Amino acid sequence: MASPYPDGDREKVASKLPPTLQQELKIRCAELGLDIQEAATVAVTTWCSSSGPHSDIDTAGAKSFSTWLPSGMYDDFKARCVDRGVSYIQGLAQSVREWLDDNPSPKQAGLPVAPRRFIVVNQKGGVGKTTIAAGVAEAHAEPHGIGAKCLRNFVEALSDAELERQNRTREQLLAAIADYTAGGQRVLLIDYDPQLHLSNQLGIPTIPVGQESLVTHMTGDPKGNIGDLPVVIDDPRFGGRLHVLPGTREGFLLDSKLALTAAQSRGFQKESALERALHPLEADYDVIVIDSPPSLGLSMDAGLYYGRRRPNEKPGRSGVLIPVQSEDSSADAYQMLIEQIDDLEQDLHLDIDRLGIVVNLFDSRRGYIATSSLEEWHNMEDQNVIAVVDDLKEQRESVRLKRPLLSYVPESKQANVMRLIVAGVK
Ligand SMILES: Nc1ncnc2c1ncn2[C@@H]1O[C@H](COP(=O)(O)OP(=O)(O)O)[C@@H](O)[C@H]1O
Ligand SMILES: [Mg+2]
Repeated sequence: MASPYPDGDREKVASKLPPTLQQELKIRCAELGLDIQEAATVAVTTWCSSSGPHSDIDTAGAKSFSTWLPSGMYDDFKARCVDRGVSYIQGLAQSVREWLDDNPSPKQAGLPVAPRRFIVVNQKGGVGKTTIAAGVAEAHAEPHGIGAKCLRNFVEALSDAELERQNRTREQLLAAIADYTAGGQRVLLIDYDPQLHLSNQLGIPTIPVGQESLVTHMTGDPKGNIGDLPVVIDDPRFGGRLHVLPGTREGFLLDSKLALTAAQSRGFQKESALERALHPLEADYDVIVIDSPPSLGLSMDAGLYYGRRRPNEKPGRSGVLIPVQSEDSSADAYQMLIEQIDDLEQDLHLDIDRLGIVVNLFDSRRGYIATSSLEEWHNMEDQNVIAVVDDLKEQRESVRLKRPLLSYVPESKQANVMRLIVAGVK
């Protein structure tokens, strides 16, 4: 059906909604992996076109609520409210209520809700996988609302030069962050790299070789429950919601162990080893973030497979997040990675969503090399550069102090860029 509204153009709509309805809308969108503005668009369109009956909603105590609708839609909506003899607030409340009723919570429907899965991947070392995996995990686990406020202040204060570097206008960024719903989620951050940088930089004890670990759960006959392995990050900011599955040096043997297990036991599918290992703890988490090793071996295929789009999962809800640097060797590595993802998709008939690229460690003092390469990333077809991250001292300080970045400097530029990445993954 052709839409009467221009593609892509949205206008900000400021209205009011009862707080309970706002909360229900946020939670439902998070469960279904939808943007609030998308949900509001469908809600308003459906309400306008349905002849009813529309039940009255108690709007006493309604609080300000803003979202972004396709240009022109709100005027049509207001005209419809006048026809139906209801206030705009009542019309919006009815629209949202009816949308919630049409889109029930998967939990109420008894369906398991898969955690949202971010696979942070690049076989090139030092590009920022560990940094970005940790930042994305922290942004989902910090208290709900706090991150949204910091991010709004940050975007409002961005200089023109910084906006240009992000290749976005302020309006575009404000629209992208308008329904930032991250925060307050139960998050599992997995150290999947045998170099153990993630565990070490968060001060988490790693798992000695020979003991039960993710590797034993992926390859052998684990004795215990994988749910006993995650460690809670002991930092009040995350309220016990941020857990880390510690790494093990045994991960260096994972590729050969997977190959051996597959050779020995017919029917063992190497690529699904990570998914099978993690399955028992999925119900305990809303978000799972994987910090990948700098390799493209079998273990990485298992990581990519874990990020594939599951049946009934919305495109772009889970997938791969790719940190790169603004230089030519990063572009070559990126091509190899994309080929590997394409091959896996074809061989196993999967969809692995590319959530976006993060250009990390950008240093404008490197002049033409950095800026021309950044331009190439921005101009690349079919790819979405979600954010450009400078080389910032707070990042290195937090690592040195073994403190989670979003707790050490929650209002810093670096922390806000992590939230911007989360907001940019649509
Ligand atoms: N934006 C940044 N600003 C400053 N230092 C950074 C930034 N991103 C990463 N680093 C540092 O660069 C090094 C490599 O980053 P890391 O995340 O470990 O990369 P990878 O996991 O891809 O090997 C680390 O010491 C990290 O603290
Ligand atoms: Mg790393």
